[in-house]
Amino acid sequence: MDPKRLNALVHDREAASYDDRFLISYDRGIGREVKRELSRAIGRPPRASRALDVACGTGYLAIGMASAGIADRVEACDLSVAMIERTRENAARAGAAVGLTAADAERLPYATDSFDLVVARGALHHLPDPLAALVEWRRVLRPGGTAVVLAEPTRSGERQVAAVVGLAVRAVEARARLARRAPDPSEAERKSWEIASMAANLRTFLPQEIAALAERAGFEVRSVGTASLAWILVLGLNYYLVGETRIARSRPARGAARVIAGGAAAFDRLVSDRVLPPAWRHTIRAVLR
Ligand SMILES: C[S@@+](CC[C@H](N)C(=O)[O-])C[C@H]1O[C@@H](n2cnc3c(N)ncnc32)[C@H](O)[C@@H]1O
Repeated sequence: MDPKRLNALVHDREAASYDDRFLISYDRGIGREVKRELSRAIGRPPRASRALDVACGTGYLAIGMASAGIADRVEACDLSVAMIERTRENAARAGAAVGLTAADAERLPYATDSFDLVVARGALHHLPDPLAALVEWRRVLRPGGTAVVLAEPTRSGERQVAAVVGLAVRAVEARARLARRAPDPSEAERKSWEIASMAANLRTFLPQEIAALAERAGFEVRSVGTASLAWILVLGLNYYLVGETRIARSRPARGAARVIAGGAAAFDRLVSDRVLPPAWRHTIRAVLR
């Protein structure tokens, strides 16, 4: 299947459960959280007149930027129409003004030089042609503007998540065998979607690969590096368990998962991001001009 069609199908289906699976909540803290994340990447508080969130998903960065007043105007786009609709609902709930367009990250429907901040979180690894996407992001960015690429998976990170989630899969299957549950007819279909979701992650990167692609696209690379370990392991586990078990979707379980994820993120800021070898960390972030 064409990888873009696969991505649109998978993300249309995932839109409803995405925020639970990735522990995103569009509450009052969202602006502060996104401002902190972008400040940490850029090295100073971000400020723009027009900002664009490419492959916005349910709107995490776009809504955060609008809520924090980082930009006078925030636009967001995604290939998945269901994700765009989800962003619309989340933005309305958060009281954030975000302009929304269904669009392919490799062919943006915006004028040249129209933004001074372009952000993309967890986007490049879903794209068949990341170089074409970066060329487009460079085109819509004004001279002197900043592009921030966040949360692209590293190879070692993917292997560690697969190992941890693999253990959870075995535990859930053993529990089902012990309970002698009758096979659920919807099980095979659900499993096929989970496999399709994995297939929609088209690639992993090394930091220097993203830097080389960005330079070929005409960017100057201000910084490129890796971050996070424990937080991504917790998110990977939560992603699997929310899809697999009803208990993980319950309110108390979601609350507990958020607390654990918060602790893991703090551990990463204090330990993983400072002490661990960069190659062990799970996500790549790059700041481009
Ligand atoms: C891992 S999610 C990240 C969403 C959001 N940026 C976040 O941080 O939560 C990847 C998103 O990329 C979108 N996507 C995949 N292929 C795309 C493409 N060719 N153009 C635009 N968006 C795409 C998906 O629909 C999905 O919403």
